[in-house]
Amino acid sequence: MKEIMSKQQKIKLLEAAKKASRFAYAPYSRFRVGAAVLTKSGKIFTGCNVENASYGLTVCAERIAIFKAIAEAERYFDAIAIYTNTKDFTLPCGACLQVLAEFSENLRVIIINRYRKIKEYRLSELMPYPFK
Ligand code: THU
Repeated sequence: MKEIMSKQQKIKLLEAAKKASRFAYAPYSRFRVGAAVLTKSGKIFTGCNVENASYGLTVCAERIAIFKAIAEAERYFDAIAIYTNTKDFTLPCGACLQVLAEFSENLRVIIINRYRKIKEYRLSELMPYPFK
């Protein structure tokens, strides 16, 4: 399937990631993350981090977004946007990279910070050797 992402879609995706960060359940770290994945069929699924008193049970925003999409029968993705209200750019953790790599090697990974500055990567740059 070919990759299609208009400028409008990109803006929508970034906005969706930002909005999703508002729903983060992060009483322990107080670090709110929002993610939004764009499926090849043009749909957007969002996620936020969900923490737990048993810290290791925490799930990152990226995995929530991708799992929501999978659970709605979507398996092909063009992009994921990740937003944090910080100066620094938050890149997906190793566990999330491995999960993303399960579904699309060439995924566009767009990181947005509080100043609406953007950094863009390909998943293959961030995770060149996933376990397969
Ligand atoms: N977190 C994410 O949601 N995504 C990332 O890419 C990095 C970390 C969350 C997990 C935890 O709730 C908080 O950020 C601090 O690690």
